[in-house]
Amino acid sequence: MWNLEGKKALITGGTKGIGKAVVEEFLELGAEVLFTARNNDGILALETELRKKSFKVSGLQADVSSGDAQDKVRDWIEENWGKLDILVNNAGINIRKKAVEYKEEELRKVLEINLIAPFQISRKLFPLLEQEQNSSIINIASSAAIQDVGTGTPYSMSKSGLLQQTRSLAVEWASHGIRVNAVSPWFTKTPLTQGYLSNEEKLHSIIEKTPLGRVANAQEISSIVSFLAMDKSSFVTGQNIVADGGMSIKAI
Ligand SMILES: NC(=O)c1ccc[n+]([C@@H]2O[C@H](COP(=O)([O-])OP(=O)(O)OC[C@H]3O[C@@H](n4cnc5c(N)ncnc54)[C@H](OP(=O)(O)O)[C@@H]3O)[C@@H](O)[C@H]2O)c1
Repeated sequence: MWNLEGKKALITGGTKGIGKAVVEEFLELGAEVLFTARNNDGILALETELRKKSFKVSGLQADVSSGDAQDKVRDWIEENWGKLDILVNNAGINIRKKAVEYKEEELRKVLEINLIAPFQISRKLFPLLEQEQNSSIINIASSAAIQDVGTGTPYSMSKSGLLQQTRSLAVEWASHGIRVNAVSPWFTKTPLTQGYLSNEEKLHSIIEKTPLGRVANAQEISSIVSFLAMDKSSFVTGQNIVADGGMSIKAI
């Protein structure tokens, strides 16, 4: 059971960073994968690279915050697979600003992509997930869901909402054979954090707060996602696995 043989998986935001690491690891573990992103060039480049290695993988251009795009993804899965074993709600953004500087459309965009889209996508895919009787949804939250880590209030709000979404859906859908869990990373080296982590002063401050003395790489997050996707974690639901190098348990 330490594999994903025979599983069909959807990963949102699969062309970069944590999502890309999940796509690659799932394929190596034997799953068939559909990934989404907004930029079509990025999708085609990754699809081509992975198909050369004979993996069963497809990419689809779909902004998670668009209802039409969500329907397009559901239709693709219905037509090509007729079921879904694993959904990873990974796509997420941040706009780093102080609360009073936020424009209303920016606030709505962060909440739409990080919080509402996972709920809508999970609900739309429910009939396909329900068919398997042992399917798994994994939501990528953040350390910012639990404490203030300087990422801005709207991002924290969206991620803490995502954690409660995880717990509530886990209870509501347990009897339908669907587990729902979350993974909360602290700073991880990805295109999202590249600019921030290239600032020596900021990087030093992050490392100082982290007992393991470094930031994570994307593969250290994808391995947790893989565990939660596997039947090996079949009695785990409604949980949040924090991957923060010990940051949250360090008082001084
Ligand atoms: N990196 C960290 O330190 C960190 C820490 C805690 C939590 N997280 C969370 O982990 C997740 C992944 O972060 P990351 O650092 O890997 O981000 P990233 O490097 O920016 O990659 C994000 C991926 O999502 C796609 N994406 C963004 N918005 C999308 C949308 N509206 N619809 C569809 N796809 C979209 C991007 O492709 P396109 O641009 O082509 O759409 C890209 O493939 C996010 O939810 C983030 O909040 C990250």
